[in-house]
Amino acid sequence: MVELAVESLVHVYRQGQVRAIDGVDLHLGPGERVALIGQNGSGKTTLVRHLNGLLRPTSGRVLVDGTDAVQQTVAQLAARVGLVFQDPDRQIFAATVRREVEFGPRNLGFSGDRLRAAVDDALRATGLDAEQRTNPYDLGASRRKLLALASVLAMSTPVLVLDEPTTGQDPRGVERVGRIVRSVASSGRTVIAVTHDMRFAAETFERVVVLRAGRIILDGPPTAVFAAASWEALRSTFLEPPAAAVVGDRLGFGSTPTDATLVAALAGAGTDQ
Ligand SMILES: Nc1ncnc2c1ncn2[C@@H]1O[C@H](COP(=O)(O)OP(=O)(O)OP(=O)(O)O)[C@@H](O)[C@H]1O
Ligand SMILES: [Mg+2]
Repeated sequence: MVELAVESLVHVYRQGQVRAIDGVDLHLGPGERVALIGQNGSGKTTLVRHLNGLLRPTSGRVLVDGTDAVQQTVAQLAARVGLVFQDPDRQIFAATVRREVEFGPRNLGFSGDRLRAAVDDALRATGLDAEQRTNPYDLGASRRKLLALASVLAMSTPVLVLDEPTTGQDPRGVERVGRIVRSVASSGRTVIAVTHDMRFAAETFERVVVLRAGRIILDGPPTAVFAAASWEALRSTFLEPPAAAVVGDRLGFGSTPTDATLVAALAGAGTDQ
């Protein structure tokens, strides 16, 4: 399992026009489930692309298990940090679903039964097991998104990074992604997901990091990040707290970021009377 540390990270895109990451410090431990949120253009994708070496820092560093990512080869990093792209069409290239999912683990040296099992598990977890021979381009957009997830999941990397995994998913798809996140983290691996879905962030992650203009403005458990005291900061990056948090606050229950915590507060209030 792997420790990740981002230290004083700055990323300026070409010609110095955009300071997309403007001094980020972040430590992520094994088994952590972290949601990364913030308005469009706040730097979420830029930040996560540093974790597997797709982008190199303008200044600052990213340490993967104590070693500077710049000193690791792309292959070494790929074995440690799996990144599922925001746009699956930039990731998918194989002629069938199964071949697509096989590619990553095969590259990491999986073969025989181990390769088969890794691919089968990833296809099952994403609900694509009946589509193994389908051409990825014959899948709908939401299933292509799940295929991109399956192909990285099959690599069993100690760190799994998902860039907006629930976009376009119906509630069943969102639940599926949530189950995968929990299951991966419960095996001691780290999961980081960029998301615009506040409910998904609150329900599925134990830590929420909020970016605004390339800087972290909030970092804590959903109970703190979605509590009323944080709403002004959230709104400064055009985020709305989940509905359960707003309802709980209006009813005087304090911080209830998830449907479950709201229901528990309501039930508790019922028995008190
Ligand atoms: N390849 C690039 N070249 C130049 N500027 C870029 C590039 N990619 C992103 N940017 C700029 O960097 C900033 C951060 O972009 P980034 O894609 O990291 O944001 P994001 O939080 O992932 O946004 P979204 O929610 O829309 O996916 C934005 O101002 C964006 O326009
Ligand atoms: Mg993005």
